[in-house]
Amino acid sequence: MSPDPLVAVLLGGPSSEREVSLSSGAECVKALKAAGFRVTEIDPDDRIAAQLAEAAPDVVFNALHGRGGEDGAVQGLLEWMRIPYTHSGVAASALAMDKQKSKAVLAAAGLPVMQSRIVPRGEAEAAHMLPPPYVVKPNNEGSSVGVYLVQEGANAPPKLADTMPAEVMVETFAPGRELTTAVLDGKALTVTDILTDGWYDYDAKYRPGGSRHVIPAEIPPEIFAACLDYAERAHAALGCRGLSRTDFRWDEARGLDGLILLEVNTQPGLTPTSLAPEQAAHCGLSFPDLCRWMVEDASCAR
Ligand SMILES: Nc1ncnc2c1ncn2[C@@H]1O[C@H](COP(=O)(O)OP(=O)(O)O)[C@@H](O)[C@H]1O
Ligand SMILES: [Mg+2]
Repeated sequence: MSPDPLVAVLLGGPSSEREVSLSSGAECVKALKAAGFRVTEIDPDDRIAAQLAEAAPDVVFNALHGRGGEDGAVQGLLEWMRIPYTHSGVAASALAMDKQKSKAVLAAAGLPVMQSRIVPRGEAEAAHMLPPPYVVKPNNEGSSVGVYLVQEGANAPPKLADTMPAEVMVETFAPGRELTTAVLDGKALTVTDILTDGWYDYDAKYRPGGSRHVIPAEIPPEIFAACLDYAERAHAALGCRGLSRTDFRWDEARGLDGLILLEVNTQPGLTPTSLAPEQAAHCGLSFPDLCRWMVEDASCAR
């Protein structure tokens, strides 16, 4: 890397998680400046290749979330352009973004995941595809965009919004607490217990005060250790790089058998109060130091 590298932060973009990415990106820009880097911002659109060529950065800091930015697409472009970038590469990003396919890989690695099916949305609206309780959600969106809960005893399947994709994931409801573990450079950081009133939806995730984070989680050592172990194994099984975050549900009535891996996020939220940066800070790595580490870790395969 040049002694005074220019870092381009990719933020915003056209995905349904644009707003989340704009706030992650703005915070990363601040932190990277505080860490002493020269920084430029790119809000990508169809001209992304030209936007990158014009900025000519030494490193891309990818603060995009959702489709295009988290699914291997932008990673592939950066490989072509030979620009080192943060987070996971093409294959891991594409795999993690597809919840059903990543679950197949995670299950093959011996990790506990919930039973699920991919069905046409019309079928999910016409009849129960699984015995309630279950959830219906997009297979490849993040930030709880379009997660429907069908309660136990519900008569009718859910009416889905028009914005839901043609095919949806129907997944057995995993009761219990919401736990999460970030992995940095292959090593799990800690476990956070996310407390919300009721359903952990988009609003609860991103509204200030929408949820409360208990860090480190006050859970039995056996469960704590399992979260660290599962998150590291999930990161490795999907071939992730840099920072990732693995989300769990834990049904305490069932002990270790009640711990289920919900998904792996290859582009976790990156504001200072987001889950992964909060875990890094808990482990002694400040937000600017975390961002600096990610720039130094950036790479591309070609
Ligand atoms: N099978 C499930 N059982 C219980 N809660 C779920 C289930 N699937 C999703 N949720 C809830 O919805 C949230 C978002 O779902 P998730 O699969 O992580 O998608 P996203 O990519 O939107 O984060 C989870 O954090 C959890 O609170
Ligand atoms: Mg999630």
